[in-house]
Amino acid sequence: MATTKKVQCDVKDLGLAAKGKTRIEWANQWMPVLQLIRKRFIKERPLEGVRISACLHVTTETANLAITLRDGGADVVVCASNPLSTQDDVAASLTKDFHIPTFAIKGEDKDTYYSHIISALDHKPQITMDDGADLVTTILTKRKELVSGVLGGTEETTTGVIRLRSMAQDGVLKYPIIAVNDADTKHLFDNRYGTGQSTLDGIIRATNLLFAGSKVVVCGYGWCGRGVAMRAKGLGADVIITEVSPTRALEAAMDGFRVMPMAEAAKIGDIFITVTGNKSVVASEHFKVMKDGAVVANSGHFNVEIDIPALEKMSLQKRQTRDFVEEYTLRDGRKIYLLGEGRLINLAAAEGHPAVVMDMSFANQALAVEYVVKNHKKLEPQVYPVPLDIDRNVARLKLQAMGIAIDKLTPEQEEYLSSWSEGT
Ligand SMILES: NC(=O)c1ccc[n+]([C@@H]2O[C@H](COP(=O)([O-])OP(=O)(O)OC[C@H]3O[C@@H](n4cnc5c(N)ncnc54)[C@H](O)[C@@H]3O)[C@@H](O)[C@H]2O)c1
Repeated sequence: MATTKKVQCDVKDLGLAAKGKTRIEWANQWMPVLQLIRKRFIKERPLEGVRISACLHVTTETANLAITLRDGGADVVVCASNPLSTQDDVAASLTKDFHIPTFAIKGEDKDTYYSHIISALDHKPQITMDDGADLVTTILTKRKELVSGVLGGTEETTTGVIRLRSMAQDGVLKYPIIAVNDADTKHLFDNRYGTGQSTLDGIIRATNLLFAGSKVVVCGYGWCGRGVAMRAKGLGADVIITEVSPTRALEAAMDGFRVMPMAEAAKIGDIFITVTGNKSVVASEHFKVMKDGAVVANSGHFNVEIDIPALEKMSLQKRQTRDFVEEYTLRDGRKIYLLGEGRLINLAAAEGHPAVVMDMSFANQALAVEYVVKNHKKLEPQVYPVPLDIDRNVARLKLQAMGIAIDKLTPEQEEYLSSWSEGT
């Protein structure tokens, strides 16, 4: 474990810091809402002395969030929320230039990944900031003594919120969590436009394949799936959707996509993209019927959506053909290409979501932390939505930054909308 200016860290190479710093500054330019929050935080110091452990994808945008929290007075440490999503130059710069202890190395093995989570928890957080609920889970299973010191936490992604809601339902969640993912200014934009664009970016960077004319199977038509399908269609792909929800399947059909069971889609797809938050969505029965040369990628939170152990079992050999591309040769000679070890391809092979969209997600994160610090005494160990005024304010500030003005209700319209007797 390296140290710099007594800042504890475990990063790949502190020599990468200079490159990380300029990239962090680049992202900052495109995060005007977070910049406004940072300016206020510098003046008001609403997080003075609060210990925060943040388990997030270590990207340039996350760095700007961590710096904002630090400038609000918080004592922040950062660890990775996925073994393959870390940008090593950013991790180096966070530690060296911004003196924020960071524990994250791209490609770290499972043991290192969890040892980094433990290092972040050794900080004895008062606030946990999760992307996938790994901090909360580790506290509740392995570091129970920390619970009494935690005021609350935030959760960034759909899968994390689902895990936390089941913990709350089973009565095992011990402190309040704000579900940042569920803010309109988060999932409507980050999950849809962010995942949409960056997933294709990751697949294209990894493979240099042409989407135009390809049959692209998108598994899951939730917020991420809609974005991925929309962007693949925009590039000229023939997009097929698989779903388990009748409503979402119907929506996909009326949005103009072909919808069919995975057993059918598996036979005709060229590129498969899972974004369901579920496990074994692409499984052995699908690998059995896939075309020679099929490409399989995941952009859901965990690497369980593609049944990789099944693919391993069915294969005679595997070799790496390009960065983030593993070629599996099946017994009948067909080849299947797995991208990014089945981990979030937008973060493994590309840079994750653009800063413009993370601006809103991380504005919600910063304001949710401030909210928990101010209101934790009133909150129960439950999963709470981001307060509506925060969500709306983020939208207002983003519009302002984009130079877009909108209309205001006239007093007459307000009265009309609030009266049940009007319109008769
Ligand atoms: N790659 C990223 O940067 C990124 C960003 C945000 C969210 N995520 C993750 O992506 C995943 C999806 O998030 P979301 O916000 O779209 O969730 P969502 O709940 O809106 O959508 C998931 C969809 O998958 C469908 N589904 C579930 N099981 C299925 C199956 N077996 N076959 C086909 N469809 C199935 C569900 O019916 C649902 O419509 C989550 O794991 C989330 O954490 C990733």
